Amino acid sequence: MTILNFGSINVDLVYALERMPQPGETLSARSFQQFLGGKGVNQSVAIAASGGNVRHIGAVGPDGDWALGRVSALGVFTDHIARVETATGHAIIFVDTSAENMIVIHGGANQALSESQIDVALADAPSGAWVLLQNETNLTVEIVTKAKQAGFKVAYSPAPFDEARALAVIDQIDLMAVNQYEAEALRAARPDLSGTALLITHGAKGAEFISAEGRRHFQAAFPVQPVDTTGAGDTFLGAFLAHYCQTPDQLADALRYAAGAAALQVQKPGAAVAIPSKPEVEAFLAQQARAS
Ligand code: RIB
Repeated sequence: MTILNFGSINVDLVYALERMPQPGETLSARSFQQFLGGKGVNQSVAIAASGGNVRHIGAVGPDGDWALGRVSALGVFTDHIARVETATGHAIIFVDTSAENMIVIHGGANQALSESQIDVALADAPSGAWVLLQNETNLTVEIVTKAKQAGFKVAYSPAPFDEARALAVIDQIDLMAVNQYEAEALRAARPDLSGTALLITHGAKGAEFISAEGRRHFQAAFPVQPVDTTGAGDTFLGAFLAHYCQTPDQLADALRYAAGAAALQVQKPGAAVAIPSKPEVEAFLAQQARAS
């Protein structure tokens, strides 16, 4: 099963801090590292690492060689990534000693996707493919509309959360992936969300899948000691989709695998580079099963 991911590509500039700064305060970082990130790319890497077949559709700028090289090295098909004049997107990320983060993004090239790029990618896609998108690129409504017109199923992670953008397309979405607060905001605006499957992450508690018909499945998170939670939700979603899009009837396995992938990802610094391979997740899950 192929997944077309219309998503962001960021250079993550990560500063490790003792604690988060207060407004007006200057702090020295304990360390600085540059990683590949972006909600879109993190999800593509998680799909690929989980054995899924993913094509990433996005854009980088003239400075994009490093990011493009990293995306490709992490197993993602990059032929649909455009080169544009605008600089590659980036994120400034603070991570404190409790593994919490604060993130500021600059969209850059992620905001320069073109309609023709969407059309070409959709025309080139095998039948039965899924389309995935987030809110870090432009043209989200166009991507959903064109994907549905072409007969594809659509999964949408409307992060960074924008209620208006999410509600504009919710009736066309097959799977909406949100955190607990985003789910509450959607339910406040639209009490009846039946017809769209929901994947709701509850942080360290776990995740819940509610089918379009209202059937609920819960997966507890595996208790681990995180060092950096950046990209954990992206890892969960990508790992889940790699299984769910292929075998939607094996929901419990998909949720358990995704929980295992996220549990391993948060124990390493960085977003995309911290995403575990399928053998690593399977070994972790086997160990958890033996211990229980
Ligand atoms: O979800 C984590 C991601 O959000 C980071 O990799 C950063 O690039 C921001 O887009």
